[in-house]
Amino acid sequence: MSRLDSFIRRLKAQKVLIEHAASLIGDVPGPILELGLGVARTYDHLRALLPDREIFAFDNVIVAPIDLLPDAHHLIMGEIRETLAFCGPRVGARAALMHNDIGSGDEIHNAATRAWLAPLVPPRMAPGGIVITSFTMELAGYEKLTVPPEVPANRYHLYRAPRG
Ligand SMILES: C[S@@+](CC[C@H](N)C(=O)[O-])C[C@H]1O[C@@H](n2cnc3c(N)ncnc32)[C@H](O)[C@@H]1O
Repeated sequence: MSRLDSFIRRLKAQKVLIEHAASLIGDVPGPILELGLGVARTYDHLRALLPDREIFAFDNVIVAPIDLLPDAHHLIMGEIRETLAFCGPRVGARAALMHNDIGSGDEIHNAATRAWLAPLVPPRMAPGGIVITSFTMELAGYEKLTVPPEVPANRYHLYRAPRG
């Protein structure tokens, strides 16, 4: 598969998954945490889809177009390994949805990220909240959900936090 086809497949899969996850959080209060604002493609889709939800976007650089940037309160700049652990006072409620988009095509990098990220996820999630992630994570007590059939196998993963 060409790089172009692979990129198109990735974006389609993200769109399908985000829309699916949005349909699963109707009864789960709380904000959305977007890990990896990047050029704000998925952030912009999330805010179009869920206009009534607060969305906090995390990144350590700004590369998104100015008109797509969250306001200063909702843009959490810095290394996610540090900011996710300490964002509670700013974010307030636990998240209904977390979208982890800081993975890469490099399995070693993903394994290293998984090791520090996974323990930081449960303290930030609301009961019944949904995690979309580009690499698997060990999340104790979480249910691994089936992804929609349009999403290529093992490309993205969905988890639901215990309802409490
Ligand atoms: C694949 S891009 C995100 C794409 C974005 N979701 C979009 O749709 O445009 C990953 C982003 O995560 C950020 N990132 C990766 N690891 C990070 C870390 N440990 N701390 C903060 N930001 C990180 C990178 O700077 C990059 O902008």
